[in-house]
Amino acid sequence: MAKIVNLVSVLSLLLLIAFADAQILGRGFLKPPPTLKCDKTYGVKSGDTCFGVEQTFNLSTAFFESINPNLNCTILFVGQWLCLNGSLS
Ligand SMILES: *[C@@H]1O[C@H](CO)[C@@H](O)[C@H](O)[C@H]1NC(C)=O
Ligand SMILES: *[C@@H]1O[C@H](CO)[C@@H](O)[C@H](O)[C@H]1NC(C)=O
Ligand SMILES: *[C@@H]1O[C@H](CO)[C@@H](O)[C@H](O)[C@H]1NC(C)=O
Repeated sequence: MAKIVNLVSVLSLLLLIAFADAQILGRGFLKPPPTLKCDKTYGVKSGDTCFGVEQTFNLSTAFFESINPNLNCTILFVGQWLCLNGSLS
């Protein structure tokens, strides 16, 4: 009988741990990522580079990258929209 009680308490402990883990994971998954609000956009023109755009609009590289998080400057294409000003919330 004592063995069964032990088994039950061990099992419930494991369940508790699994549940706590799921909650931590769930929080990670359910937390919405910070959304970027872009206030000013710019359409890439022929010959543009990220650096050129940064200079034209007087933006620091760090700021430019922070408002264009998924941008890959080596594959910039004409007509692509860049963000020139915005905020993370
Ligand atoms: C560019 O930005 C810097 C710092 O933000 C500022 O000091 C400078 O006056 C700006 N230049 C122009 C041309 O807007
Ligand atoms: C950008 O694109 C180039 C060419 O497809 C690729 O080689 C490079 O790894 C990419 N860089 C990033 C940061 O995704
Ligand atoms: C971005 O927009 C904010 C709010 O309109 C403004 O205060 C700030 O000067 C702008 N920054 C740049 C780099 O244009």
